[in-house]
Amino acid sequence: MRQVKIIEKKQRGAPLTSDEIRSFIEQYVEGKIPDYQMSALLMAIYFQGMNIDETVCLTRVMLDSGARVDFSDIPNKCVDKHSTGGVGDKLSLIVAPTVASCGGMVPMISGRGLGHTGGTLDKLESIPGFNVNLSPEQIKNQTLSIGVALAGQDAELVPADKKIYSLRDVTATVRSLPLVASSIISKKAAEGVEALVLDVKIGEGAIFKDEETTESLAKLLVRVGEEFGIETVALLTDMNQPLGYAVGNWLEVKECVELMNDGDGAQDLLELNRALSATMLKICQVFPTVAEGMDEVDQVIANGNSYRKFLEIVKAQSGDTSVIENLDLYPKSSNNRELLSPVSGYISDINARMCGELCMELGAGRKKIDDELDYGAGVLLFKKKGDNIEKGEPLLMLSAESKSKLESMWENIINIYRFDNSPPDESPLIRKVVHSRGETDWDDFIKS
Ligand code: URA
Repeated sequence: MRQVKIIEKKQRGAPLTSDEIRSFIEQYVEGKIPDYQMSALLMAIYFQGMNIDETVCLTRVMLDSGARVDFSDIPNKCVDKHSTGGVGDKLSLIVAPTVASCGGMVPMISGRGLGHTGGTLDKLESIPGFNVNLSPEQIKNQTLSIGVALAGQDAELVPADKKIYSLRDVTATVRSLPLVASSIISKKAAEGVEALVLDVKIGEGAIFKDEETTESLAKLLVRVGEEFGIETVALLTDMNQPLGYAVGNWLEVKECVELMNDGDGAQDLLELNRALSATMLKICQVFPTVAEGMDEVDQVIANGNSYRKFLEIVKAQSGDTSVIENLDLYPKSSNNRELLSPVSGYISDINARMCGELCMELGAGRKKIDDELDYGAGVLLFKKKGDNIEKGEPLLMLSAESKSKLESMWENIINIYRFDNSPPDESPLIRKVVHSRGETDWDDFIKS
């Protein structure tokens, strides 16, 4: 009955000892503690929080639950980026090949969709044959040979996070600062990186909507990252409207491939890729300044090197490169329906959270741990916030295999939009940078 006492202790708001945290998590991973008790502890943590010592301890225990990739025998500083999760947030698919094309080494471990937010692994698995289940040795070998690997946590790597992450998704315990911080940093420490850029999302479609909590999360992530010897920089970025134009697993892969192939695409994706990739290149010491990194990033996007690196990754991880080289070969969704604008004017808002929830209902995300995904399901926006639109012009396309799901969502979809007669105020995509020495504006950070 020790676990009941531990749950009760956290329920009262008392800090747990290292032994209590370690024994609970270890037994859960071994299958000796059932999901319902782990869920109860997660809920108690959700309401009562954890202090910094508990959070660092939880991160260490999760890290110790599996193997680690060891890069200590190479001179380069490996680097990664991780997002706290957003809607249409496909940046990892662009950033990883971009940084690798610029000379960085990126052993990236990602997660699956969580709540209304998408996950990199689900997007990658929409590519037929793509294998995200790499052993620590395979991650290391692939990173050494092509500069990048895109993997998930499996039975070997941070199994505790894998189990807890899926449980949080279905028990409404995603929005907890210590749980997010331990989940992210344990994965990053396991992949052996010494430098980490975090994309901490803020706004309607983010895990946390308000600036104060998001800033606390950024500071906690930087602090816990540094405890594990990882130089960590967090960019606080806007997540009020979906990123780019596509939301849904394959639709997002397609958008990334088109951007890297054309050297052009959605402005928010290009800007964020530039900022995140250049910051990564600076902190892993490939370039002395962020500004020099940005110039190189622009070049590899424009000359197709990022695209070619992405193809190399797909090939190395057994994915079908033919659908990447010819996007039209990918099977079309059985049901596709265009929504036309009911008014003329400016789009003043596209609610990212509602859009993410809608895509989940369509089959792009999971409501239960074992839900099967519809990889082609999702939304393709034709217009973004601030764009002008005429009545009757297409606003978006909804796609799904299931006609009934698409029809049941149809009435709601228009509610993601707000229209106005004048353009909305512009808000910056990158709000702030948090690092171990404090916080800075993005413009000042570029110069540092
Ligand atoms: N990303 C993660 O890896 N874990 C979280 O808890 C949230 C976002």
